[in-house]
Amino acid sequence: MTPVSAGASSPVCLADYERLAEQRLDATAWAYFSGGSADEITLGWNRAAFERIAIVPRVLAGGPGGHTRLTLLGRSYAHPILVAPIAYQKLAHGDGERATAAAAEAMDAGMVLSTQASVTLEEAAKAGATCRWFQLYVQPEREATLKLVRRAEAAGYEVLVVTVDAPINGVRNREHRAGFTLPPGVVPENLRDIAVAAFPPLAEGESAVFDRFLAAAPTWEDVAWLKGETRLPIVLKGILSPDDAVRAVEVGADGIIVSNHGGRTLDTLPATIDVLPDVVAAVAGRVPLLLDGGIRRGTDVLKALALGASAVLVGRPIVYGLAVNGAYGVAHVLRVLRDEFEIAMALSGCRTLADIGPHLVLLGAGR
Ligand code: FNR
Ligand code: LAC
Repeated sequence: MTPVSAGASSPVCLADYERLAEQRLDATAWAYFSGGSADEITLGWNRAAFERIAIVPRVLAGGPGGHTRLTLLGRSYAHPILVAPIAYQKLAHGDGERATAAAAEAMDAGMVLSTQASVTLEEAAKAGATCRWFQLYVQPEREATLKLVRRAEAAGYEVLVVTVDAPINGVRNREHRAGFTLPPGVVPENLRDIAVAAFPPLAEGESAVFDRFLAAAPTWEDVAWLKGETRLPIVLKGILSPDDAVRAVEVGADGIIVSNHGGRTLDTLPATIDVLPDVVAAVAGRVPLLLDGGIRRGTDVLKALALGASAVLVGRPIVYGLAVNGAYGVAHVLRVLRDEFEIAMALSGCRTLADIGPHLVLLGAGR
């Protein structure tokens, strides 16, 4: 199965794409994509936590009928690997999210488009038929939020992913050191006509954190309101606490993404895979749970599913593929990850996703 003529620089795994992307991208875009917050402790934990989990396989479990299909929120998917929402993809490649959407469709992967995409949500939907999840940043004005929701509905999006963990950016020291700012030509296209009049100048003694960002941040009431305004299923992204997961179900969320925003918000948040079991227990199967953060190998996908995730999302490796080889790079990243996942299933004795369970993993084995 080893590629016969893979030259020294032909990427064969997601880590290879990361190395090549660092060479291709300018230093500020690299800092934006690769960075976490503060000391990047959470960023490291997202990986380290997967590496501490061992897989205990079942043998002699072959036979016909194997596949990776699943049903999620009423729609069938060929495999459980989705493209996470990543802002400003034109920083990686001139075609930006259009290339990512085309690649996702080619690889049968569901794709989540960011509110802060550098192409319009209509263009992305047109570029790829599987780009049907829209990630919504709730806007300070309800009218502006509704405008985004109505556009997403009209463009054929089928799921709203409401990100709840980032009312303000984390302390992004790597970006600060690199002096990152958006270059000309890269703008949040979907927010162009949304006036940010909700942010008047601060008065004497007011704080940007409290009086600007926190004052305008969404609340549980906003989620309940949104639920009443749209027929699309609502998935809350960025939940780590079992209590919040229960509350999400109570306000009517149709799914939850266990996420720490790829280590970009508050540093020292736990690794997502470490909190997944408690969230799974609290939600008790009432809604599907997805997970992202540090998925780099097919074995990571297997571990997340073994611990109760229905599907996973992959973030940075997608934009690294985009930076290295446009749509082809993204497609290859998705292909590699899916192939690795299928091999992990075969070598652990799983013919379908239903065979993947907690019996396959040994927690803390690699400590
Ligand atoms: C993100 N993420 C993100 N999340 C979101 O809900 N809306 C967004 O616009 C963005 N933008 C964004 C930009 C960049 C550069 C990164 C790295 C991440 C978070 C993203 O969806 C996801 O949660 C993490 O990237 C998952 O972790 P990995 O796979 O990157 O380790
Ligand atoms: C980020 C924002 C856009 O992580 O979510 O950069």
